[in-house]
Amino acid sequence: MRASTPVALLGLATAVMGEVHQLIVGTFGTEFLYTLEFDDQALTLDLISNMSTNAASSWIALSHDKKNLYGTSWNIPTGYVSYTLNNATDIVYDTNVTIGGDCQSSKAIFIMASSEPPYAVYGSPFGGTADCGSVMSVNADGVISGMQQNYTYSSSSGVHGMAFNPANTLLYSSDDSGNALWTHSVDQTTGELTYVANVSGPATGSDPRHVAVHPSGEYLYVILEGANELAQYSIDNATGVPSFDNVTYPLIPSDATSSSYWSDEVAVSFSGNYLWATSRGRATNTTGYISGFSLSTTGAITQQMFLTPTTSTGGTSNSIAPSGFSDKWAALTDSASGFVEIWELAANGSAASIVAHLDLVDGGCCANAVWYN
Ligand SMILES: *[C@@H]1O[C@H](CO)[C@@H](O)[C@H](O)[C@H]1NC(C)=O
Ligand SMILES: *[C@@H]1O[C@H](CO)[C@@H](O)[C@H](O)[C@H]1NC(C)=O
Ligand SMILES: *[C@@H]1O[C@H](CO)[C@@H](O)[C@H](O)[C@H]1NC(C)=O
Ligand SMILES: *[C@@H]1O[C@H](CO)[C@@H](O)[C@H](O)[C@H]1NC(C)=O
Ligand SMILES: *[C@@H]1O[C@H](CO)[C@@H](O)[C@H](O)[C@H]1NC(C)=O
Ligand SMILES: *[C@@H]1O[C@H](CO)[C@@H](O)[C@H](O)[C@H]1NC(C)=O
Ligand SMILES: *[C@@H]1O[C@H](CO)[C@@H](O)[C@H](O)[C@H]1NC(C)=O
Ligand SMILES: *[C@@H]1O[C@H](CO)[C@@H](O)[C@H](O)[C@H]1NC(C)=O
Ligand SMILES: *[C@@H]1O[C@H](CO)[C@@H](O)[C@H](O)[C@H]1NC(C)=O
Repeated sequence: MRASTPVALLGLATAVMGEVHQLIVGTFGTEFLYTLEFDDQALTLDLISNMSTNAASSWIALSHDKKNLYGTSWNIPTGYVSYTLNNATDIVYDTNVTIGGDCQSSKAIFIMASSEPPYAVYGSPFGGTADCGSVMSVNADGVISGMQQNYTYSSSSGVHGMAFNPANTLLYSSDDSGNALWTHSVDQTTGELTYVANVSGPATGSDPRHVAVHPSGEYLYVILEGANELAQYSIDNATGVPSFDNVTYPLIPSDATSSSYWSDEVAVSFSGNYLWATSRGRATNTTGYISGFSLSTTGAITQQMFLTPTTSTGGTSNSIAPSGFSDKWAALTDSASGFVEIWELAANGSAASIVAHLDLVDGGCCANAVWYN
């Protein structure tokens, strides 16, 4: 790292320039972890490691210090896997844990790690007989050491994504099947969760899929998979509970048929000045869309900057991962054809375009990407 604080560059905030960056990508159903290298000067994207694993991870997440990688596992038994990262290509499998409680028949769909002690790992199963969440403890090396808590949402729930507030004291869960948003408080000693509130999606069939919180802690952004919209919720400072601001933006064109799409992912840019969101096409001939938004300093959405077709439907992916060092770059993953692309945000945020494309065809790639550096 040549600089540790963001500096304005051509209107976009950037901490590091002229470097080679590594990303790790997981898959649906095929048992590989791929490491890619993106050169932000030459604008090249290359596969530098193809690691065979014993678990296909439909979602992967880094630990706060990037010394561990956690993944969902769709193999026997269904649960979560834990790896040590010596670097972006030297990845060592450590252990797996089985989903417990009422959720053993569910498929693990999402995982993320707290950036605050005790650095617990949070997972969500989807489908099955009942809906639960998983809180996992880690040892001093960040390796998952066991199932700390199996907690329950409701019998109609299907939680597909989660996000923390900036202090990691509150966890928000997007309940796609239950059309709800859940708030839990985090025990700072054990990492365990306690129910705080459950609010409904903006309308019947909105179906919150993924969520992101602005670094100010004042706004929650919600992908409405069914409505194909992005919704803005304000977070109450005293209670931490989000409430709908009656603000939504379309993630498909106004003349498109909503039932031909399912919206996917939302993520805040490096500086907190921009928001990325995506939708997927459900039919093989229907492209997905990528959209960008400008945000106020507190995180209120000020403008939808663009709504641009993606290369393909996105398959079950079209997941967007903004880089952790610049507003300029975001990685988009596709599982219809199997590829990863790097998208560049224009200097004034008004548009985004593809600068690098890498095909990764193995029958299951690509799920989501994480930026190692
Ligand atoms: C999970 O761990 C068990 C016990 O070590 C092992 O038998 C199994 O193969 C592992 N499964 C995966 C998918 O890693
Ligand atoms: C990771 O470390 C290994 C040695 O364990 C080294 O061979 C490899 O080049 C390193 N990879 C990267 C991307 O730095
Ligand atoms: C979670 O569920 C698993 C499987 O039923 C069980 O082995 C484990 O003891 C449970 N853990 C907690 C903390 O409830
Ligand atoms: C919480 O959400 C579920 C949907 O998952 C719903 O059925 C239930 O009524 C909600 N409970 C409350 C108290 O709002
Ligand atoms: C409310 O705001 C204060 C001051 O910014 C902050 O320390 C606190 O964490 C906030 N509370 C919640 C629940 O977000
Ligand atoms: C929500 O906003 C729409 C216009 O965008 C308006 O017609 C409607 O009255 C608003 N609803 C509430 C409850 O404010
Ligand atoms: C996609 O193909 C289906 C079936 O052939 C057709 O009904 C639909 O109109 C097509 N959609 C688009 C956007 O071309
Ligand atoms: C952003 O920059 C592009 C050229 O790079 C220009 O065409 C466009 O008008 C600019 N938009 C705004 C809002 O400044
Ligand atoms: C990774 O390697 C395996 C063979 O070990 C191969 O089957 C697979 O296609 C490779 N993946 C890519 C994207 O090249």
